[in-house]
Amino acid sequence: MDAEVIEVEGDLGGGELGKFTVVGLPDAAISESRERVRSAIKNSDFYFPKLKVTVNLAPADLRKYGPNYDLPIAISILLITKELKPRENIHEMMFVGELALSGLLRPITGVLPIAIKAKKENFKYLFVPESNAPEAKLVADLEVIPVKNLADVVNHLNGKRKIPPAGDHQFDFTPPPLAFDMSHVKGQEHVKRAMEISAAGAHNILMSGAPGSGKTLIARTMPSILPDLCLEEALEITKIYSVAGKLPSNTALIACRPFRSPHHTASGVALVGGGAWPKPGEISLAHRGVLFLDEFGEFPRQVLENLRQPLEDGVIHVSRAAGNLSFPAKFILVAAMNPCPCGFLGDKERDCACSAAQILSYKRGISGPILDRIDMHIEVPRIKFEKLTAESYGESSEAIKKRVEAARIVQRKRFQELSFIANSEMSSDAVRQFCQVDGPSKNLLRSAVDQLHLSARSYFRVLKLSRTIADLAGVKDITLPHLAEALQYRPKLDY
Ligand SMILES: Nc1ncnc2c1ncn2[C@@H]1O[C@H](COP(=O)(O)OP(=O)(O)OP(=O)(O)O)[C@@H](O)[C@H]1O
Ligand SMILES: [Mg+2]
Repeated sequence: MDAEVIEVEGDLGGGELGKFTVVGLPDAAISESRERVRSAIKNSDFYFPKLKVTVNLAPADLRKYGPNYDLPIAISILLITKELKPRENIHEMMFVGELALSGLLRPITGVLPIAIKAKKENFKYLFVPESNAPEAKLVADLEVIPVKNLADVVNHLNGKRKIPPAGDHQFDFTPPPLAFDMSHVKGQEHVKRAMEISAAGAHNILMSGAPGSGKTLIARTMPSILPDLCLEEALEITKIYSVAGKLPSNTALIACRPFRSPHHTASGVALVGGGAWPKPGEISLAHRGVLFLDEFGEFPRQVLENLRQPLEDGVIHVSRAAGNLSFPAKFILVAAMNPCPCGFLGDKERDCACSAAQILSYKRGISGPILDRIDMHIEVPRIKFEKLTAESYGESSEAIKKRVEAARIVQRKRFQELSFIANSEMSSDAVRQFCQVDGPSKNLLRSAVDQLHLSARSYFRVLKLSRTIADLAGVKDITLPHLAEALQYRPKLDY
């Protein structure tokens, strides 16, 4: 997720005429950059040397990837051919961009981490393709020069025609209007309550119920009750999208929490990230937001198993030939499934048509360790006619969001000195410190651990959940009702 500074050196002569080589572990895209650079220089009416050109990308042992080096390679050649006047302060400038054959500059991915690095390494000027400039401007106190084409950079550096630096950008943090609102959901009050708790403490949740009972609908309304982003979170998310090349055009900063819903045919790599040049997967694109896995039972078991480590650590480590990379992946897992293939297992009025063997094999699809990592298991029953046709609207998302935000403020205060943002991220140590329970609660907890066969993980998760429930209630101490509510979200059916 972090950029490295690459130094580009150019040299002339010492070999076959007309040859142009790039050394320093370049991949195919960089080797092709020779052709782009050669054409771009010629088509911008500059001289391209007849002698052999050698370009070195240092450090040589770091693998390099992508077309970002076109502009700096062109600059280094123009410097040796004296098309560019020698400058002392060239080391204060960082260049990045892909060249078109015409000499125009094309936008690139990953500009935000590059700008952060430029600032950190005390570069004064960052030259980026014009449309990437607002993204680079997210970094304060860095002079960003938006570049249209190669000729413009040369004129700028030669002092002929200055390019005005990119101005400060005003970022709009008002989230876009959302299509779904909790008030559209009829009945299902207990599910909405669970969603509120999940949003308040960033707890994972699994809904299970009959077809058409509103699971997908309720999950889609989740973004409308999530707390607004703060700038640091927005920058974290934007960095991931920038690296993944998924930043929507004319958006410099992602200002609302992501909601990702990959289909159940998605591969393991699409979900957790990877590839020859590892890219962030869905779980990282859902960072600080929601990963919604609809039809949870249909996901292949080995694909879901990939989630085990990131669900625990909030980060995914990918090892590939290209190197070891880590992508952040702190997301709320919202999953929805039917309890059995026909969907009516546990329904009070309709009989389930599945055989015992079918039900068993359906449940085997999801492993115990994954279910153990889900704090809240909630049943979504079919709703009654009266509720469905009721004229009155339920509580709006806005009202629920207010309570969620109040609970988040309590958490932010609590974790001031620590690196956690939400209750679900607490370590066991923090649980011991912040989730003290009184005598009667301890007794309840004891019998729950024995009778529900809670794992050590579930034990801590129950405590964290009760902490969130108490925070929502606005009280300091966790008491019996909070703990009892948290316990009832543990799975009742034997998976
Ligand atoms: N509680 C509800 N309030 C209002 N509309 C509802 C409710 N439940 C379902 N609906 C309507 O029914 C449609 C189908 O619901 P939804 O897709 O959420 O069901 P589901 O539980 O996800 O079913 P499946 O298990 O088949 O995926 C929704 O688009 C919505 O219009
Ligand atoms: Mg559905």
